[in-house]
Amino acid sequence: AMVDKAGFKHFMAKEIAEQPTVLQGALSHYIGADGVVLPEPGLAFDQIERMTLVACGTAFYACMVAKYWFEQIARLPIEIDVASEFRYREPPVTKGTVALFVSQSGETADTLAALRYMHEKADKIVSVVNVPESSIARESDLALPILAGTEIGVASTKAFTCQLTTLAMLVLKAAQDRGQMSPQDVQTKLAALRGLPGVMNIALGIEARTQAIAQELSEARDILFLGRGQMYPLAHEGALKLKEISYIHAEAYASGELKHGPIALVDPNVPVIVMAPRDALFDKTVSNMQEVMARGGKVLLISDQKGVNEAGDGVWQSIVMPEVDDFLAPILYAIPAQLLAYHTAIAKGTDVDQPRNLAKSVTVE
Ligand code: G6P
Repeated sequence: AMVDKAGFKHFMAKEIAEQPTVLQGALSHYIGADGVVLPEPGLAFDQIERMTLVACGTAFYACMVAKYWFEQIARLPIEIDVASEFRYREPPVTKGTVALFVSQSGETADTLAALRYMHEKADKIVSVVNVPESSIARESDLALPILAGTEIGVASTKAFTCQLTTLAMLVLKAAQDRGQMSPQDVQTKLAALRGLPGVMNIALGIEARTQAIAQELSEARDILFLGRGQMYPLAHEGALKLKEISYIHAEAYASGELKHGPIALVDPNVPVIVMAPRDALFDKTVSNMQEVMARGGKVLLISDQKGVNEAGDGVWQSIVMPEVDDFLAPILYAIPAQLLAYHTAIAKGTDVDQPRNLAKSVTVE
């Protein structure tokens, strides 16, 4: 079927706005009365010793978030790599390894080649895809659709949050299979997930605020993104979105790594965007943020109301996000990453849906 912009100025805007709806669809597809239900042949996480997650671009950052989740919540060791490096390092694959590939299109050449490298080597090949009839889906033992619907904007938005949501459900199943979470705790987390589309709707209310901030960001030559723990991959996704469509040079660093080099770049002309919900690591990130401010850096703090109240003094700008279960913050904080990039690109007048030099699906290595 032909997809149109449904009244939006760009496909990207439409795809950002439709996230609560498509997320809802993905959740109801996988969550049954007794928890997360996978299509046949399923996946028994108690029989897995480790998992290797491979992807490119935005899908790789979804893998990076999933690594934190699987390791912390399900105590499952995870290795991640970008597909273009994975097979050239000739990783040894031991028994008990499952390989999981994340791809919106299911046709990315490097990801498909990495999948083929793992044929015969991995116990099982799993994929998390948006296009169920794609090559990557067809060559997997188990293909999990993310149900984002057709994504047209080159900069991935709803596919990212649907990938994360699908992976989050997989993490809860893994935690339950591996005895790391009681059925009751799994139910609590699933309830939080079911609430996510509603919270995301509220989060979309930051749009006017991001638009105002984006006017100023559009003047910058370089922008830094900081995050710690499961928010570190979001810093990467924020920087990627921004460079893809606004062509502003943006870099992501783990908050704690800032002092090992990148702090040398900090001056009043380099905005530093800190993605930090008020979680267990918040205080650590705040002290990194203060190091930036002490050097004249201008900080945009993205946090919840508690976080902004506690640490917002002296920041250049803040964006207040709704509160959400800590575990789900990476999914919710994709919204400011997307909206900041979108409105910065609009302010610069670049082609949001068809950025220069980029392709929606890269089918050459
Ligand atoms: C291209 C797109 C990105 C995407 C990446 C991986 O670079 O521009 O938005 O994240 O490919 O694509 P895939 O279809 O495998 O998720």
